[in-house]
Amino acid sequence: MTAQTIAESAMKAISEIVRQESAIVIDEGKDYLVETRLRPLLRRLGLESFDALVDQVKSIGGAEVKRAVVEALTTNETHFFRDEKFYEALREGIFPQLIEDLGSRRELTMWCAACSSGQEPYSVLMLLAEDFPEVFRDWKLRFIVSDLSREMQDRTREGVYAQHEINRGLPAKLLVKYCEREGAHWRMKSELRDKLDVREINLVKPWMGLPHAIDIVFMRNVLIYFDLDTKKEILGRVKRVLAPHGTLFLGAAETTLNIDRSFIRHERQKTGCYRVVE
Ligand SMILES: C[S@@+](CC[C@H](N)C(=O)[O-])C[C@H]1O[C@@H](n2cnc3c(N)ncnc32)[C@H](O)[C@@H]1O
Repeated sequence: MTAQTIAESAMKAISEIVRQESAIVIDEGKDYLVETRLRPLLRRLGLESFDALVDQVKSIGGAEVKRAVVEALTTNETHFFRDEKFYEALREGIFPQLIEDLGSRRELTMWCAACSSGQEPYSVLMLLAEDFPEVFRDWKLRFIVSDLSREMQDRTREGVYAQHEINRGLPAKLLVKYCEREGAHWRMKSELRDKLDVREINLVKPWMGLPHAIDIVFMRNVLIYFDLDTKKEILGRVKRVLAPHGTLFLGAAETTLNIDRSFIRHERQKTGCYRVVE
């Protein structure tokens, strides 16, 4: 089969579907990216063209194909301990403060809202286990981790990583302590895996079953894919699930500035973490 190219009309239709289902904006001129990411799906479905794929998505019973198109067009880039400053802020500012504030409660609720393949929540758990062992061991931890993509949810639940993924950010000391060999791969030990409550949450659909006083929301490197109105709407909903003393973490290239004035940056932390002032 020759490499198919995407016609303008199919590109428009796919961009519209992806925007409706996930709010991800596919910029103009990204035809090559869309073709590359959707070609494996065309092959899997035995389709000859992107037009045929659009027809399938729009057909009665096309829901699963639609989901596969959206999932294929998510960007799942992540790695262990991504953005050193973020982990420094947790270790040196946010966790010590929370422990002081919540010490008698001995409960901590966190939500990682776009967890991709799980390296981010596992890094947070390893940091807790290393630097705040009492919280890790004895506190009641609720760590909800979610993604739109079912493939990413499964990967997070399984906690299995290839060597090249381990090489991206996981120090040897933590590898030997928290992972076990599984063939050519490494698997997070169950003491970490069992602490994650992995769910499907699409940020632009209703957030079902989330607690209403979350101490820390990690929503890193996902708002960048959305337009301004979607960012506003999502930040408005974050305010409603954050505890009054709660903290929101965004990615290094993301901000609430000029989007929602009720968030202010933590003064002492040199990274994208925010509190609500109202
Ligand atoms: C670049 S990854 C970020 C991973 C991780 N938070 C980090 O910072 O390393 C973005 C993730 O957002 C997810 N995503 C995109 N749109 C979403 C939506 N509407 N709802 C929930 N997750 C979404 C993608 O599936 C992807 O796994």
